[in-house]
Amino acid sequence: MLTLTDLRKSVRNFTDKPIDENKLQEITDYFKKCRRIDKSIKTEIMIIKKSGLPKDIKEIGGYNGFLIEAPYYILIFSEKKPYFIENVGYIGEDILLKLTDMDIDSCWMTLKEEKVVEEGDKMRITGLIALGYGERIKKISKLKNMFISKYGNGDLEAPKPGTDNEIRMDILDMVFMGDYGKTASYDELTATGLSEGFYAARRAPSALNRQPWRFILDGGTVALVIKKDEYTNIYEAQIAAGAAMLNFAVVISERIFDVKWEMGAADFKYNIPDDSFIIAHCRV
Ligand SMILES: Cc1cc2nc3c(=O)[nH]c(=O)nc-3n(C[C@H](O)[C@H](O)[C@H](O)COP(=O)(O)O)c2cc1C
Repeated sequence: MLTLTDLRKSVRNFTDKPIDENKLQEITDYFKKCRRIDKSIKTEIMIIKKSGLPKDIKEIGGYNGFLIEAPYYILIFSEKKPYFIENVGYIGEDILLKLTDMDIDSCWMTLKEEKVVEEGDKMRITGLIALGYGERIKKISKLKNMFISKYGNGDLEAPKPGTDNEIRMDILDMVFMGDYGKTASYDELTATGLSEGFYAARRAPSALNRQPWRFILDGGTVALVIKKDEYTNIYEAQIAAGAAMLNFAVVISERIFDVKWEMGAADFKYNIPDDSFIIAHCRV
């Protein structure tokens, strides 16, 4: 059975169809009880219609300032404390899964990093999500044209149009055993009993789909490593880290035991290359 982590994908074409008020309330209620890395960090949520989106937020959202047009936006505000960005990534991904479960489409939107990390102790906008109901492509001819033009001669095995959800790194390039870069076989990975958690983590959203996550499984410890990247910034990597941690925790907690992530590198070494750092770890 497909899980919510498999089903979630970024949608960028929205219809004007409104979301029922009760459903909007359900999302707000869910936010109050959803999973968090650090419950002591104060966070707030606002769901607003497109027309009500404040100009200063409109100006700082989206790749290169290009904000996806959607009928609604979720704004997540946070106080600035250690790991507040990862915490919002974690909360935001939990909300994205809830939206997926409610058949509501969504897309995480980046924010100008300097605005999120600016000095001061006020609550700051830390997460932005576009939501609504996505366009469904009904006309077979239109669908066929997309396949033919994009993927060759009507190959119906081609990825679904409208998402790059299928494009992910090989899991074996993402999960290492004992030390950074030490790869395993599929059988070895499966034998750990954690492969579904890693698969779910790998399905998380990441800015420009850069998938900055690497995992080191060392006995009873999983360390999450973030690979820095010239195309994305640290804010985006921290959000993606939180999202992947949430997916891993949801799947492993459902199937085996409760996962509790600790932020930071502890005193692990693991031969981490210069362009990467350990962001969090958990006991498994
Ligand atoms: C921190 C972050 C910022 C993102 N910013 C944008 C954005 O500004 N515009 C956009 O269209 N998609 C944005 N995305 C969505 C990613 O492009 C998307 O997650 C990635 O391409 C993988 O596709 P999927 O979500 O369908 O699996 C962002 C995702 C993350 C995690």
